[in-house]
Amino acid sequence: MEVIICENSKKAARLTAKMIANAINEKPNLVLGLATGATMEPVYAELVQMNCSGKVDFKDVTTFNLDEYVGLGPNNKNSYRYYMDSNLFDKINIKKENTHLPNGLALDYNEEADKYEFMINNAGGIDLQLLGIGNDGHIGFNEPMSSFASKTRVKVLTPETYEQNCIYFNPPESMPKLAFTMGVGTILNSKQIVMLITGKKKANIATQAIEGPLTSMVTGSAIQLHQNVTVILDEDAASNLKMKDYYNFAFKNNPKWQRYQ
Ligand code: F6R
Repeated sequence: MEVIICENSKKAARLTAKMIANAINEKPNLVLGLATGATMEPVYAELVQMNCSGKVDFKDVTTFNLDEYVGLGPNNKNSYRYYMDSNLFDKINIKKENTHLPNGLALDYNEEADKYEFMINNAGGIDLQLLGIGNDGHIGFNEPMSSFASKTRVKVLTPETYEQNCIYFNPPESMPKLAFTMGVGTILNSKQIVMLITGKKKANIATQAIEGPLTSMVTGSAIQLHQNVTVILDEDAASNLKMKDYYNFAFKNNPKWQRYQ
């Protein structure tokens, strides 16, 4: 795992966007795994700008999002399809048919989950998966105790996640209690992972995910099992990390990061 600490959240988002853009420039038909949430909004704003100024081309990119609320259709402003369309897909030159999220309106949960896994495999697997982390340590909506081998399925959200996300719903109680999510196993199958963590509120959970112990109580800690992970944090989110000095030293001295300095 490589850990990069940026001065502030804007720089962290910019670096994340640059890593995604470089991956697309190296492989124009990249299969990109995407996340939603407040942390990702500045990343998508950067990617929109880069696309508009010709620095990255989404023409041949395929995307798969991590999750979607059960019961919410694409026109619902709280659905993740709506979030993705309005924050990214409607503003870049991606082909809409190449963008995928689980269908929140599917009635047969198992069938929809299996179909989603099939589609990911059929596309050749995910090349780069973008991740955030929830206050309870979740990646996607893999709540505590999700198996590290889990595949796409429906999960019941924890009260902590409910509290984190119900602020976006009006009334807050209208937030669904179930969501489709890629499994931890699905995420670990991707070829590369880039996790972005920003803000003081995430400092404790960031430390648990990055520096261990490995436990399904913090599903974000599963990234320690992956061989190609970069975690990008701002100073606030990195404030409790024990090995902070080493991460900074490694970032400065590893030639592979030179183009990002
Ligand atoms: C959403 C997702 C979640 C979020 C996490 C953090 O697609 O994958 O795991 O990344 O809940 O959300 P924010 O960024 O809103 O704090």
